[in-house]
Amino acid sequence: MSAPSKVIPEDAFNREETVQNYIKSRPRAMMDMPVRLIIERLRELGKIDQRSGCLLDVGCGSGESTRLLAKDFHHTIGVDPSAAMISYAIAFDNDTAGVEFKVANAEKLPIEDSSVDVITAMFVLHYTDLAKFIPECKRVLKPGGIALFYRQQISKILSAEDDALPVIDGPVKMMIRQLLEKAREMSHPSFHTYELHGTQFDAISWEKKNIKINELEFAPDALWTLGSWSRFYHNLPFHQKVRKSGVNPLSELVQAVKNTWTMQDRDSDDIKIRVVYTTAMIHLK
Ligand SMILES: C[S@@+](CC[C@H](N)C(=O)[O-])C[C@H]1O[C@@H](n2cnc3c(N)ncnc32)[C@H](O)[C@@H]1O
Repeated sequence: MSAPSKVIPEDAFNREETVQNYIKSRPRAMMDMPVRLIIERLRELGKIDQRSGCLLDVGCGSGESTRLLAKDFHHTIGVDPSAAMISYAIAFDNDTAGVEFKVANAEKLPIEDSSVDVITAMFVLHYTDLAKFIPECKRVLKPGGIALFYRQQISKILSAEDDALPVIDGPVKMMIRQLLEKAREMSHPSFHTYELHGTQFDAISWEKKNIKINELEFAPDALWTLGSWSRFYHNLPFHQKVRKSGVNPLSELVQAVKNTWTMQDRDSDDIKIRVVYTTAMIHLK
């Protein structure tokens, strides 16, 4: 049997256009909230009570989250296989002390053995070959170091204008199901474990594994419109690839929201929404 093609082609995040779209359309909350949750978790675990550690952010992308995390560390390294993302990260961040960025993938980290206190990876695990990435984490972590992986999955859309309007959850589940089915058809083997509510993390066998799953509603200061929210997903390489296969679950969801709220005539950019995500964080120590 021939190897399945990858859902995310190697260069998906390496096109200038994708990088620009990603940075431009990514809602601020999408970055701030995971960073806040990770910092809280690291504090609970006693990992950032002093500015002395070394942080490695794997799949750091444009480095914006890396920079936020870096404030609590003495030395921070961001790695990403996309040279376009890394050039953006370097250009944007030439004055923060103690931060460096390198082009590298999770499966072969250009990092010395036992040299890192904390590894983070946000929205990245599903792109990696876990059978190689996890041993790399073990190799580069100092004794007592931890790896913290974060992901989130949309679970509900609510109106930010009228509490009486129905919660949209059925169509959200439908979209996720359709996406997963497509992912299985087209997928990298490790993508087969990409499931709802963090079962992707079950594929990681590490004796000291702890998974924390919770529901999180993005606060009103992270207010999105149906238009701005869906544009972010529309621009992601995964959605672009799924669209090429002839289905467009995202636009079906947008239509379902408008139909349910009888807002067919309104522009998506004028419909204010709140979004609930299921977040999952795994820490390995
Ligand atoms: C959704 S972005 C997340 C970026 C960043 N962690 C953040 O939260 O802003 C996913 C990133 O994973 C990177 N990526 C893809 N395959 C990877 C691999 N095998 N190893 C490390 N990173 C990878 C992509 O280049 C992309 O920048």
